[in-house]
Amino acid sequence: MSKITAAITGIHGWVPEYVLTNAELETMVDTSDEWIISRTGIKERHILKGKGLGSSDIATEAVKGLLEKTGTSAGEIDLVIMATVTPDQLFPASANIVSDKVGIKNAWSFDINAACSGFLFALNTGAKFVESGQYKKVIVIGADKMSAITDYTDRTTCVLFGDAGGAVLLEPNTEGYGILDTKNYTDGSGRDYLYQKAGGSVLPPTHETIDAKQHYIRQEGQSVFKFAVKGMADVAAEMMERNNLTSDNIAYLVPHQANLRIIDATARRMGIDKSKVMINIERYGNTTNGTIPMCLHEWEHKLKKGDNLVLAAFGGGFTWGALYLKWAYDPQ
Ligand code: UT7
Repeated sequence: MSKITAAITGIHGWVPEYVLTNAELETMVDTSDEWIISRTGIKERHILKGKGLGSSDIATEAVKGLLEKTGTSAGEIDLVIMATVTPDQLFPASANIVSDKVGIKNAWSFDINAACSGFLFALNTGAKFVESGQYKKVIVIGADKMSAITDYTDRTTCVLFGDAGGAVLLEPNTEGYGILDTKNYTDGSGRDYLYQKAGGSVLPPTHETIDAKQHYIRQEGQSVFKFAVKGMADVAAEMMERNNLTSDNIAYLVPHQANLRIIDATARRMGIDKSKVMINIERYGNTTNGTIPMCLHEWEHKLKKGDNLVLAAFGGGFTWGALYLKWAYDPQ
């Protein structure tokens, strides 16, 4: 029997309607459109407004669109994995909530938290259940409502993040398409550079943690930048070497969108032209687990069967990784 690989057979992304522009941020904190664009590449980001809405609502829209596009019924799904750092609640898992909201009843589901590398880690995990032959239809989601943990009085972070999500369907393939190689890394000694300090078991919520604004995302930007440039570029280059990939036979680099300068550095290291790099950071900012699926969603109509894609990410924790896949279908 030929080897089973896990192929992406559908992708759908979703962003909320409200657009927070650099001009609006200029009215909120001491910043400028010029600073934000030159340091990050971001022009605007989407924000989920409305009481009682969370990451599961973003993910639910993505999954509903995915099921519709692929002609899949909720009952066929075996497993749902959701990568997020902004779950609706600490528990139960947001993947369970999404499954309930879209009517997925014959599956099990769980969340993965690997910060900005979460979607890659989840994709790698989901692929194993397909490759083993255990499951035929696995949904992998990356979704975050970053606005829920963003301090809109802190100019060093509030210009960076946005809300978005996307979901892919993984199915078995025996013709050599799909996920062909993965490599992930973590280094917990980097945990103090990018984090949400309170709300867990060490610092449960108290009046003091709220007054100290410890429920918001904080990062030492410059330090994370240095690790991110090296981590993402190194692992992407490693993925190329391991698989005899060259700047010519790669169709696209699909990078996590944290900073245009980090993306450019990765592309330079891989020696690939910018026309082969998926970039949409200018419209969405850093949506953490939403960045890579949103790129795939927006480039789907350009992707052809057999295209070689290298996905790469770096995030808090530290976490980083790359994944090589052969796209499995032509534009519909
Ligand atoms: O997605 C997960 C991983 N995360 C990342 O990969 C993010 C990595 N880090 C970065 O992308 C960049 O470090 C940032 C975009 C966060 C910051 O850019 P930077 O070029 O590293 O700026 P900086 O932190 O060194 O700050 C330079 C100056 C500082 O002023 P002084 O001390 O030189 O007077 C900041 O206070 O820019 C100031 N600054 C701002 N000025 C206007 C910081 N934020 C802003 C702002 N508007 N929004």
